[in-house]
Amino acid sequence: MSEEKLYSLRNPWFSISVGITAAIAVLAALVGLIWLPLLQPNLKLAGIWDAICSAAGVPGPSTQAGAAPPAFKTSNVVVTPEMLTRQDQVSIGRGATLAQRCAICHGPQGVSDANSPNLAGQFAAVTYKELSDFKTGARVNVVMSPFAANMTDQEMRDVALYYAYLPRVPSSQVNPNLLPPAIVVTGAPMRNIAPCGSCHGEIDVKAGSPWLGGQSAVYIKAQLQAFASGARRNDISEQMRNIARQMTAGEIDQVARYYEAQP
Ligand code: HEC
Ligand code: HEC
Repeated sequence: MSEEKLYSLRNPWFSISVGITAAIAVLAALVGLIWLPLLQPNLKLAGIWDAICSAAGVPGPSTQAGAAPPAFKTSNVVVTPEMLTRQDQVSIGRGATLAQRCAICHGPQGVSDANSPNLAGQFAAVTYKELSDFKTGARVNVVMSPFAANMTDQEMRDVALYYAYLPRVPSSQVNPNLLPPAIVVTGAPMRNIAPCGSCHGEIDVKAGSPWLGGQSAVYIKAQLQAFASGARRNDISEQMRNIARQMTAGEIDQVARYYEAQP
């Protein structure tokens, strides 16, 4: 019996099986990287290289061209957990003077009698972010925007620290016995809604999430409706818009009344 070498191209079994394996690999690559991506009607790929990039999950020519900035202003504030957490008496003092202009709507103690949002005890990072968004036009409100338009960055920080320093005042609707609606505690996983309490208190407070307790139900409801319709779109990564769009009118009513009744 001839001692034929196993790993040799002269061995027909070896060359045929290697050949078949290589052919399967090439075919699979053609199908997976080129043919299947090009079949997707909504991908709008520019060519073979684009299809390969898209299948491999790396940015290709079309995704780079497609990453056009949105047609509206987005927030340019980056909120970090440490942002504006240090009490600075000088800054608070300057903020108190500046806040006199805001008192007619937000109340002399940062608690509004009208339905403007309460600012007393609001996290400074939140007040600062909202003010800069009003200033840059990322958030728009005909009544409020003009007041932020001329503020300097330092003034916004001062006034934010001042309001954070003022004590929170429970609204006249306060009712600590009101049970939280399910959406606040457990969210609605089937609709991709995380519990409100995981960002807004109760469970955890995430940087940049406003304190909602004691805020008027009218204001909360209006903001949720604005997020849902896209009229307010300064939330980073659409985190509130994605939630509000999925909420029912009944749930919006319920959470608004619940948060208004919180201290
Ligand atoms: C003429 C009334 C008026 C005045 C004066 C005013 N605001 Fe406002 N402010 C509003 C209204 C109304 C809103 C809610 C806007 C909305 O619905 O989007 C608001 C919203 C805000 C918010 C966002 C709050 C949140 O929880 O998102 C901040 C922060 C704020 N104002 C700060 C100020 C500061 C600081 C001043 C003074 C320099 C000021 N405002 C002056 C009416 C006013
Ligand atoms: C993943 C974290 C997160 C979850 C979950 C979340 N929120 Fe928010 N929410 C935010 C952030 C951040 C903002 C501030 C957006 C911005 O930058 O202006 C916000 C803003 C709001 C505002 C506007 C407050 C103001 O003063 O302007 C309301 C009202 C609100 N959320 C209600 C809710 C309700 C109700 C739920 C549950 C159904 C919820 N949120 C769940 C993070 C969250």
